[in-house]
Amino acid sequence: MCGIVGYAGHRPAVDVVVGGLKRLEYRGYDSAGIAVVADGALDVRKKAGKLANLQAMLEADPMKDASTGMGHTRWATHGGPTDVNAHPHVSSRGRVAVIHNGIIENFAELTAELAEQGVVMTSETDTEVVAHLLESTLEQAGDLAEAMRLACQRLSGAFTLVAIDAQDPDRLVAARRNSPLVVGIGDGEHFLASDVSAFIDYTRDAIELGQDQVVDLRADGVVVTDFRGQPVEVTPFTVTWDAAAAEKGGYDLFMLKEIAEQPKAVADTLLGRIAPDGLLRLDEIRIPVAELREVDKIVIVACGTAYHAGMVAKYAIEHWCRIPCEVELASEFRYRDPILTRRILVIAISQSGETMDTLMAVRHAREQGARVLAICNTNGSTIPRESDAVLYTQAGPEIAVASTKAFLTQIVAVYLVALYLAQVRGNKFGDEVAAIVRQLADMPHKVDLVLDTLEGVRALAEQFAEAQSVLFIGRHVGYPVALEGALKLKELAYMHAEGFAAGELKHGPIALIEEGIPVIVVVPPPLGRGVLHEKIISNIQEVRARGAVTIVIAEEGDEVVTPYADHLIRVPACPTLMQPLVSTVPLQVFACALATAKGHDVDQPRNLAKSVTVE
Ligand code: G6P
Repeated sequence: MCGIVGYAGHRPAVDVVVGGLKRLEYRGYDSAGIAVVADGALDVRKKAGKLANLQAMLEADPMKDASTGMGHTRWATHGGPTDVNAHPHVSSRGRVAVIHNGIIENFAELTAELAEQGVVMTSETDTEVVAHLLESTLEQAGDLAEAMRLACQRLSGAFTLVAIDAQDPDRLVAARRNSPLVVGIGDGEHFLASDVSAFIDYTRDAIELGQDQVVDLRADGVVVTDFRGQPVEVTPFTVTWDAAAAEKGGYDLFMLKEIAEQPKAVADTLLGRIAPDGLLRLDEIRIPVAELREVDKIVIVACGTAYHAGMVAKYAIEHWCRIPCEVELASEFRYRDPILTRRILVIAISQSGETMDTLMAVRHAREQGARVLAICNTNGSTIPRESDAVLYTQAGPEIAVASTKAFLTQIVAVYLVALYLAQVRGNKFGDEVAAIVRQLADMPHKVDLVLDTLEGVRALAEQFAEAQSVLFIGRHVGYPVALEGALKLKELAYMHAEGFAAGELKHGPIALIEEGIPVIVVVPPPLGRGVLHEKIISNIQEVRARGAVTIVIAEEGDEVVTPYADHLIRVPACPTLMQPLVSTVPLQVFACALATAKGHDVDQPRNLAKSVTVE
């Protein structure tokens, strides 16, 4: 949520910053802006709407060459998405420009204080207050880094801030509390960004800033301190993927590329975690085995798509490990005062590792004494850093706002954790674990098979572009798949879409069924729990009898469903718990194709951001 880029080096800063913003636009696209120092004064350009609007502005009236600059792409929180509210914000005497990701919670109090000094706010943002505060602090402190440290001590909330000083043009100073910030280390040049994709064209060497740290960045060096000015030790890391992974690579959309990457993402998530004897080796889980044996409950916390992955995982965890498992929306978790003990394992699932709701749930769980294991896709991000252990999904960068490959890999990763628990606790014999691991290892191939059969799904989706509403139903693990299918359609096609447990329909939602309404049904494998299959056939009949048009997702060879399907989408046969890995894929494609038919921006849907760093 909000993308931040900074640069100091030998290249034209405006080009580097705009290029970085392009890569970070998935984090927010309500407005964009850039600031450099030219001829001893700030040059700030900003524009509401997508980055293209700012680019057009810069083309019409180019900025002067500069070697240091910063830019911002915004997801609006305080103040609507207007030119004035766009970042950077400039201090009243024009000395300092600031960009910000997060929320300054005490902005009202600081605004009142500044008003007494005669400062008049020009925007409705919480960020502007920092620009004024920083300027007055700088006038006393005389040094931008020191001013930033002092100003940060007065701020509460979540923030990444970057500032530039008109009187000190070769330098950027940034601060980090709760919102992400990484530093890219180049040769005679340095970068700042919300995530590494902004500078991956130039360097793969980076450092992750910790909580409450300030970085002083110039072309020839980087100094990191805490908010009191004490030097801190930094942990360098190397990005394992390259620039091509953050490009569309010949696809029209990032989402299409990411859907296509799913077999590899699943395979990579299994890689190196299965020993030759078929058992699991999860060395990353640094929680002692003795403690894992004592776990008496698992609580999964996550948001959005990751929450649906958690819901899928609950079925596997309880079935394989016989440990009670709850799945909870991270945004609700800490506010209901959950009962947590050291014997409870909290699993936090997050693609970005930065989702504030999930991070707050993690902190709460740890404060209450629970162990926290993160399932995350972003190396070095905040949630894994603050957890007891982490198992990384290996999906590679996911750029499209609607999550696809991350979802599949999150399911695989939590399955690995569940099997590992079953293995170390003795709930399953080694040969049983190895047999399930083989089923998982077959899934990349099966996902590949699904990808080859999706032309019909695209054509079908286009037929429903004018539908008022689409319902999704499923049972068992097909239920969270139905929720995920509906979420994808809401996110991308802006249509009313709901997912239901098929058995729950008759308790209310069936009243929504009217002539012609499309109902997408996720049918469980007939060889799984036979009773589930029979029951869903009855549910299909119930909706058809009331006029629904049924789009049925069923495995190859399941002919029992054929008479009840107005449209049939086939997926390869697999064990019940593996089915979400194939049955979700047509739903992703359905939503993508339908949104494309409606002319929507699929990679950057309205009102959303990929990484939501506010609560
Ligand atoms: C946002 C995104 C969703 C995502 C959710 C959780 O709302 O739009 O696609 O599922 O955040 O993100 P996370 O990075 O924690 O998995």
